[in-house]
Amino acid sequence: MKIAAVIVAAGRGERAGGGVPKQYRDLAGKRVLARSVHRLHHCGVFMSLIVVVNPLDRDHIDAVEAELGFQLDTIPGGATRTASVRAGLDAAAKAGAEAVLIHDAARPFVSTDLIDRLVTALDSHKAVIPALPVSDALLRVGDGGGMGEPVSRDGLFAAQTPQAFHLAPLLDAYAKLGETALPDDAAVIRAAGGEVELVTGEAENFKLTTPEDFLRAERMLMSEAITVTGQGFDVHRLEPAELMWLCGIEIRAGLGLVGHSDADAGLHALTDAILGAAGAGDIGQHFPPSDPQWKGARSDAFLTHALKLLKEAGGEILHADLTLIAERPKIGPHREAMRARVAELTGLPLQRVNIKATTTEKLGFTGRGEGLAAQAIITARLRP
Ligand code: CTP
Ligand code: MG
Repeated sequence: MKIAAVIVAAGRGERAGGGVPKQYRDLAGKRVLARSVHRLHHCGVFMSLIVVVNPLDRDHIDAVEAELGFQLDTIPGGATRTASVRAGLDAAAKAGAEAVLIHDAARPFVSTDLIDRLVTALDSHKAVIPALPVSDALLRVGDGGGMGEPVSRDGLFAAQTPQAFHLAPLLDAYAKLGETALPDDAAVIRAAGGEVELVTGEAENFKLTTPEDFLRAERMLMSEAITVTGQGFDVHRLEPAELMWLCGIEIRAGLGLVGHSDADAGLHALTDAILGAAGAGDIGQHFPPSDPQWKGARSDAFLTHALKLLKEAGGEILHADLTLIAERPKIGPHREAMRARVAELTGLPLQRVNIKATTTEKLGFTGRGEGLAAQAIITARLRP
């Protein structure tokens, strides 16, 4: 069966506040919509993924596409969720889908397991939704704003998305609905007299609705974060020169480092350490020495690019420790300036940056003063 996913993301997120529609808010380093789309994309079930948006949100959509690394198939939504879904269903029909999963952009924690359960159930049912039994005691609010009558929770369930449907009967149900707006798609099927099967939902698959929901989601993602390290090493030849670049600062001690770029071995080692933590290869892959555009380049640009890749991998640098190995120049007088520059470039507080120096007791190429070596190790937090 050809199944399309329709993600509704055209709402304004009034209850969540925050200045930006909630589906475009940053959640632990990645926008909510990017997280929802990633989950659906990743499970590999769908022939197409249609995202229903408000065209006014174009800048936000661009940012989500940049985070995902691919373009979204977007269509304009309507004033209500029902109108937005209707637009998504038309697009799914045009794409030749036989079934659809309709998902709220505001539920970024949908799992592959849940999608599999829904898709399996579509073999024997025309409409299937995830639902969880209500656990709190329920009540109706009285006229004065206090408690009115208690409501039995027996047989009461809370509905979630994705909601899964054979497309033809769902289109019929929407056609019968007219202009009415309903809270979800299962309600549209019921209004048309159809049957809806239930599968067990997931507590983690909650909808981001209020500011408290965002705090809960941040905490959940934080608790799944892991700490990683990355290490880097670099060497450049030393020769007499007016100045050298090292750890992002200029040193005038009659010595220079030779290389294709500014030959800042300190920042190169640090860049490689960051790429290591990001799982993104090495500096040579990203800035090949054979490429003329990097001739004489300032190494700040390499470092900034590596930090961007780390961020895209869900990472955040926590600490950096560098060791410079050379007989000359003397590092001591420049240590604090280097530390301040590295802190500035990485966005780390000063006390999370350390610069060390050592000689090699006149042994080897560093001992003979032929070259300068640099080692870096960084710690980073990676969030899912
Ligand atoms: N939605 C939509 N088009 C609308 C209204 C809602 O596509 N006109 C989408 C939302 O973007 C969300 C989902 O439907 O992903 C569930 O709706 P809800 O949680 O109510 O989101 P909002 O309407 O954006 O929030 P609020 O009601 O607090 O304004
Ligand atoms: Mg709403």
